[in-house]
Amino acid sequence: MRTTGCTIFFLVALCLVSTASAFNAFCKEGKKCETNKTIAQIFSEQDFDTLFPQRNLPIAHAAGFWNHYEFIQAAAMFEPLGFATTGDEIMQRTELAAFLAHVAHETTCGWSVAPKGPFAWGLCYKEELSPDSLYCEPSDVYPCVPGISYHGRGAMPVYWNYNYGKLGKYLKKDLLHRPDWLASNATLAFQAAIATWMLPVRPKQPSCHDVMTGKWVPSKNDTANSIYPGFGMTINILNGFVECGHGDDIRMIDRISHYLLFLDLLGVGRDNAGPYTGCGLQKMLYTPFDKS
Ligand SMILES: *[C@@H]1O[C@H](CO)[C@@H](O)[C@H](O)[C@H]1NC(C)=O
Ligand SMILES: *[C@@H]1O[C@H](CO)[C@@H](O)[C@H](O)[C@H]1NC(C)=O
Ligand SMILES: *[C@@H]1O[C@H](CO)[C@@H](O)[C@H](O)[C@H]1NC(C)=O
Repeated sequence: MRTTGCTIFFLVALCLVSTASAFNAFCKEGKKCETNKTIAQIFSEQDFDTLFPQRNLPIAHAAGFWNHYEFIQAAAMFEPLGFATTGDEIMQRTELAAFLAHVAHETTCGWSVAPKGPFAWGLCYKEELSPDSLYCEPSDVYPCVPGISYHGRGAMPVYWNYNYGKLGKYLKKDLLHRPDWLASNATLAFQAAIATWMLPVRPKQPSCHDVMTGKWVPSKNDTANSIYPGFGMTINILNGFVECGHGDDIRMIDRISHYLLFLDLLGVGRDNAGPYTGCGLQKMLYTPFDKS
């Protein structure tokens, strides 16, 4: 059921590749289509509830935790850096849809015939339940604190000591000692997610933000590997080793389906999803053996 529905979404996405005009090309030339609207001005509490309508049901694992206010508080730290404040209002909403689609995919507890549909269940979790590992890898820079578990926590869940260490350094919070803060402070959890989106995840790669705002231009080597700007590249950055390069991966399709729905709900419309929404044809950007 779910696979079939998603496959249809995916085919729609593929069709868009050939028909869509250059991805927000209009704004690439710079400031002329800038708006100065804040995220709060284009993304209301009601919009947040529309995208995440089921998050506070008693069966949701993080009921009462996630809210619009703390998202806006967290986003304020990154608005001056261009997070969802770059380009025209369509680009602002498109970046929000893309970012929140990944958040929803990572935190969903939806299923194919779930009430309100499979993509209405984002922000159901704030933490990985029953982790089977401490996610500790020996590191000189970000050594594990004995007894502390670095399992997935947050809105775009953070795993491993070195990722907690890196984000903690950036956010000036000692996440190496207190990774649990990402499951007890929604503002901090959203900040960590937006930081993941704004910073390159690995050296010599663009950030997801740079991809979605048209700032990243692929090299000849990239295009030779079918790597182009679009939502699919953000999947490749975040989890390409698992989801990209082998056709219709179901996790990739779930991300795309959330993205298309969120574009509709935010008034952009899935017809404006841009080309290359998937990464099934892209060479994966990294393997787990590349150390960042
Ligand atoms: C945005 O703000 C900058 C700096 O205050 C200003 O120079 C620019 O004209 C504003 N742009 C628009 C579209 O209002
Ligand atoms: C939650 O995190 C935010 C952002 O880092 C911080 O300003 C705030 O004081 C924290 N709240 C609590 C209760 O620790
Ligand atoms: C070319 O791109 C592929 C895929 O991203 C990457 O694995 C490879 O390292 C790149 N080669 C060079 C020379 O940059």
